[in-house]
Amino acid sequence: MSTTGDSSTTAAPNTARDASTPASGPGTAPRAEPNARSEGPLRPPPKPHSNSGTANATLGTGMAKPALGLGAANPTLGTGTATPTLGLGAAKPTLGSNMAKPTLGPGAAKPTLGSNMAKPTLGPGPAKPTLGPGAIKPLMKASAGSAPSATDAPLSVARVRETGIRQWVRSAIAAITAVVVLALVVLGAQWLRALPSVQAWLVEYSGHSELPDNTPTGVPAWLGWQHFLNAFFIVLIIRSGWMVRTANRPEAYWIRTNTGMIRTKNTPKRMSLDLWLHLSLDALWVLNGIVFYIILFATGQWMRIVPTSWDVIPNAVSSALQYASLNWPPENGWINYNALQVLAYFAVVFVAAPLAVISGLRMSAAWPKNAEQLNKAYPVEAARALHVRVMLFFVAFVIVHVVLVLTTGALLNLNHMYAAQDAQSWTGFWIFVVSVAVMVAAWFLARPAFLSPIASLVGKVSR
Ligand code: HEM
Ligand code: HEM
Repeated sequence: MSTTGDSSTTAAPNTARDASTPASGPGTAPRAEPNARSEGPLRPPPKPHSNSGTANATLGTGMAKPALGLGAANPTLGTGTATPTLGLGAAKPTLGSNMAKPTLGPGAAKPTLGSNMAKPTLGPGPAKPTLGPGAIKPLMKASAGSAPSATDAPLSVARVRETGIRQWVRSAIAAITAVVVLALVVLGAQWLRALPSVQAWLVEYSGHSELPDNTPTGVPAWLGWQHFLNAFFIVLIIRSGWMVRTANRPEAYWIRTNTGMIRTKNTPKRMSLDLWLHLSLDALWVLNGIVFYIILFATGQWMRIVPTSWDVIPNAVSSALQYASLNWPPENGWINYNALQVLAYFAVVFVAAPLAVISGLRMSAAWPKNAEQLNKAYPVEAARALHVRVMLFFVAFVIVHVVLVLTTGALLNLNHMYAAQDAQSWTGFWIFVVSVAVMVAAWFLARPAFLSPIASLVGKVSR
């Protein structure tokens, strides 16, 4: 175990964010990189992961406060020391055995570590040490200014167990509450549906809005292809976006060669291969979306998924009541989606997708950095928060959508979307199975060994 960790020799990039910053030499400040993954705007440090066998404590407000000072040098973390001094002039932590491993802000060098270390992340986050069931090392008493002693160990194991039990109890309570709430919703909906006035209202609002006279019937083959490509891209976009969010140390990086078709004045920025995949899929997804919009409006197919009358609202309430009472609205997807479907499809195509694009672009290197007014009005943090929420919406939509497709006449529904026909046969089902196999294969192939040769065609891949 090295005790003197000179950052110039031991530093390794900690996240994609610092990837392009070479290890600082002695007396060199760890440069604050602009962006974690795209090396664009600043993002918060990655969340510490628990249950990895290492306790990750976040040192923030309320925790041992690192002294930050211009020119301050050599934070010495040794037994009895838990006050790292982060200097803009140097980054030279010296770690003793059983020591804490500070992950120093964006762009910071990674000090040499000893075994059995706790890993506090120095950042603006709250003082919230997280311990998963797999964690074996105790909470570091950083604020107390001392390294964990031998007597801490049994105490901490008990505490870890206690945390595990508490988490389990919390999950169990949440699950039971969810079941009880669902049961109450179903009973309430059934009670409502038994009321004569509600029954009369349901006759007036069946759950399906009237369509304009010239609305086309059925799902054409082009829509089936569009729908498949959209699902294919979105699944991989979610996967790659999640990798961007969670990877502490990406496996590979990519930088565009500025001699190909796309040439820019500014030098291209290095990014993780995950982000390259995310952005490449985004481009294909947006292209697919533009083609979809054009054909949708050119063929009049839009009338099936855009509300054309305000009675879509009471009809959506009516559909919701029918779903909740477990006596579901009649299936008529070939001709007319129910109002809840119309609203959901409209939200996906015309609200969520554009929001994903606007927030994604804000975080990307393509966004103008110098547009001060614009960037103040639309901060990158707001874009990131929005981007993640849009992702959660997509995930929730896809789960509910697929469950409903499969539980409301699977063969007919799959024939509509995958075989462009309104028949009770297995054709759509088998095409669907093949499409799922393609998506699963792509999911597993989306890793550096397979992606590197493709990414190398338009840039340089490095580890
Ligand atoms: C692999 C999983 C999926 C399956 C099996 C599936 C299946 C279907 C089916 C059967 C329909 C027609 C419904 C009917 O006839 O009643 C449909 C429509 C639709 N789905 Fe999916 N879907 C999947 C994934 C997705 C995803 C990921 C999205 C978007 C994020 C999506 C968005 C839509 C939209 C917008 C429509 C309406 C299309 C229109 O008529 O213009 N689906 N889907
Ligand atoms: C044109 C469309 C899109 C663009 C330009 C885009 C762009 C980006 C960029 C630049 C990042 C990296 C942000 C960073 O450095 O932390 C990112 C992250 C991410 N993207 Fe997208 N994205 C798009 C669409 C989507 C969609 C449709 C989804 C999911 C449905 C998605 C999910 C995510 C997630 C989960 C992350 C990680 C967010 C985080 O680290 O907090 N993205 N995206």
